[in-house]
Amino acid sequence: MHITILGRQPALGVAELEQLYGANNVRWFSQQAALVDSPNFDFETLGGSQKAGQVVLELDRGNWLTASRQIVQYYTAKWRASEHKITLGISAYGFKISPRDVQKTGLLIKKKLRDSGTSLRLIPNPEIALNTAASHHNKLGLSPTKVELLVVRAPNNRLIIAESVGAQNITALAARDQARPRTDAFVGMLPPKLARMMINLSGETKPGRLWDPFCGTGTVLQEARLKGINVYGSDLSQKMVDYATENMQWLDNKYQIDPQWQVFQADATDVKLNTAQKSEINRVVCEAYLGQPFSAPPKPTKLTAVRGNCNHIISQFLANIRPQINPSTALVVAVPAWRDHSGKFTHLPLIDQLADLGYRRLHLNLVSDDQLLYYRENQVVAREILLLKPLDEN
Ligand SMILES: C[S@@+](CC[C@H](N)C(=O)[O-])C[C@H]1O[C@@H](n2cnc3c(N)ncnc32)[C@H](O)[C@@H]1O
Repeated sequence: MHITILGRQPALGVAELEQLYGANNVRWFSQQAALVDSPNFDFETLGGSQKAGQVVLELDRGNWLTASRQIVQYYTAKWRASEHKITLGISAYGFKISPRDVQKTGLLIKKKLRDSGTSLRLIPNPEIALNTAASHHNKLGLSPTKVELLVVRAPNNRLIIAESVGAQNITALAARDQARPRTDAFVGMLPPKLARMMINLSGETKPGRLWDPFCGTGTVLQEARLKGINVYGSDLSQKMVDYATENMQWLDNKYQIDPQWQVFQADATDVKLNTAQKSEINRVVCEAYLGQPFSAPPKPTKLTAVRGNCNHIISQFLANIRPQINPSTALVVAVPAWRDHSGKFTHLPLIDQLADLGYRRLHLNLVSDDQLLYYRENQVVAREILLLKPLDEN
């Protein structure tokens, strides 16, 4: 059993886990953590979890003192005879305690081990949980002597102690976001983490080929290829086609990866796929046209115009590709939703007309549709993630 520490938008992280491992094998543990019971669990592929750990101990109820006692007892016994120096980080989630309380537990283990001749380096806790950068930088969870304990408390006082299997590689994610040759602030910057989540949300694992018909600079394409998936990318703008091409070449040089890529210019509302493309494509994953960016909620007339325009383009796109794609194709389409001052969202009308366009929306068990929204606090244009399947032909 693994526990994952979810990212900034926990519901998206749980949706990703549900699509990868099945609703029966995933459950919410607390608002920021989920449990996964699967022999195929692979933290590396996730976009929506910051850390994950193998569960060592689960208690029906307890507080920090209970957890701390268990940790000190178990790990001083375990490491007493260690020939190697141990590096230890401790991260607490869901506790009302201070970083000093966490540190004290580590110091107690350090003292007891010193008495028995084992040396331990304790990672300092500026917060009760180490941030992902500190965990990753110290390579915690990546070898038996570099350990991070994830101690998680649920609101009903259940406790889990887990040994981390790694933290999100934010250095590589940031490099892919910023160090690639081409980025474009105007078309928007799809965070690689979100691209990764969207690919996983397709639930598709057969080889086939992914198509992003609004590929922009190619963020979805790059994350898919890093997962071993062949890709097609297309975009209305030749400039974006050139950017995505350059970014793909950069990825080839930097990571020496095999998956094939082909990027071409096409209008998603009237593109005609060729026979090879039709037979290969088994998932469509894209961040569709989001309209113009806003730094403050637009006036109602402006919002109506932008929403109408986005709705038109995305409906036309869905209607155009429907007869061309295989009926089993999985679609993950990020569309815009606009947030007003009170935090309410205005959605695209097409969301209520999917059947007319030839699609059905997939509903998940652990997360409601309205939780599949990605935005930062100060963002007006959120991305609403639609999980779609073509309606059966007959
Ligand atoms: C929100 S951006 C996608 C950004 C992309 N995810 C990336 O990583 O850079 C939307 C893209 O859709 C393209 N676009 C707009 N209308 C289009 C259409 N009718 N057909 C195809 N692409 C279109 C724009 O040129 C833009 O690159």
